[in-house]
Amino acid sequence: MFRPWHTAPVNREQMSHIAHSEHPIKSPLDDDSVRRLLERGLPTGEERVLDLGCGSGEWLLRALAARPGVHAEGVDISEDALARAADAARGLGVQDRLVLHHLKAEEFVSEEPFDAVLSFGAAHAFGGLLPTLAAARGHLAPGGRVLIGDGFWEGPPSQEAVGMLGNFTDLATTLDRVVADGWTPVDGHVSTRRELDDYEWACWGSLAAWALDHPGHPDSAQVLETATARRTEWLRDYRDTFGFVSLVLRRTPGSA
Ligand SMILES: C[S@@+](CC[C@H](N)C(=O)[O-])C[C@H]1O[C@@H](n2cnc3c(N)ncnc32)[C@H](O)[C@@H]1O
Repeated sequence: MFRPWHTAPVNREQMSHIAHSEHPIKSPLDDDSVRRLLERGLPTGEERVLDLGCGSGEWLLRALAARPGVHAEGVDISEDALARAADAARGLGVQDRLVLHHLKAEEFVSEEPFDAVLSFGAAHAFGGLLPTLAAARGHLAPGGRVLIGDGFWEGPPSQEAVGMLGNFTDLATTLDRVVADGWTPVDGHVSTRRELDDYEWACWGSLAAWALDHPGHPDSAQVLETATARRTEWLRDYRDTFGFVSLVLRRTPGSA
C-alpha cells in the first residue's frame, strides 16, 4: 500500500533522489561542462537525441530547454527517475518533444536512428565502455555523434575501488581503445578535481543533511549511516585514483 513519503521507508530510489538533490546531473560534471558538451554534441539544435540510462533526464531536459528544434528519447530501468523526468519536462513545457522508455537500455530498439546518442555514468549496464559504444552505434544516424562519460583510473586502484566502481583502465589506454574501435574524439573533458569532489560532497552531504533534518523518521539513522559509510569509502578507497572522462565521438571514416 502506498504510504506518504514522510513515513515511508527510504528505499534505494529515494536515497538516490535525496543524494542527487543538489547535483541533478548524476555524474561528476558541473553545469558549464554539461553545457559545453551539449554544444559540441548537438551543433545544429535540430537533432534527434537518445539517452541510454537517462535517469531523471537531466541531460535531455537541458538539451530540450535550450534548443526548440531538438526531439529526445530517454531509456532507463528506473520508473521513479523516469517519472521525475516526465514531471520536469511538463514543468519546462518540453513534454511534447520527449519520449521516455521504461526498459533496459540494451533492449531498446527504434525504427529511426538518432543524430546524437548520450550515455553518462551508465556504461556498467552494457558491460563497459566499448559495449556501450557498440550499442550507441546501432542507434546512430550517419554522421551522428556519441556523447559518453565513463570512469578511468588516474593511478593504480585499490581492490576495493575496482570492486565498487568497475574495471577501468588509465585515460590514455581508454582513448586508445575508443580510437581502435573506429571512433574519432572531436571533443572531450576530463572532470576536474573540483568537479569530482563537488559531486561526492553533494551526494553524501545531501543524504547526511536529510537525516539531520528528519530526526523523527524511522530511517533517519540508517540514512546517516549510509552517508557516512559512502563518504568514507570515497575518501579511503577511490578519491585518489578515480577519474571521469566525457567524450564527443564521431565514426572514423573507413571504419566498419
Ligand atoms: C549514474 S546514473 C546516470 C544518469 C544520467 N545519465 C546522468 O548522468 O544524470 C545511471 C543510470 O543508469 C540506469 N541504468 C542502470 N542499468 C540500466 C539498464 N540496464 N538500462 C537502462 N538504464 C540503466 C540507472 O537507473 C541510472 O538512472
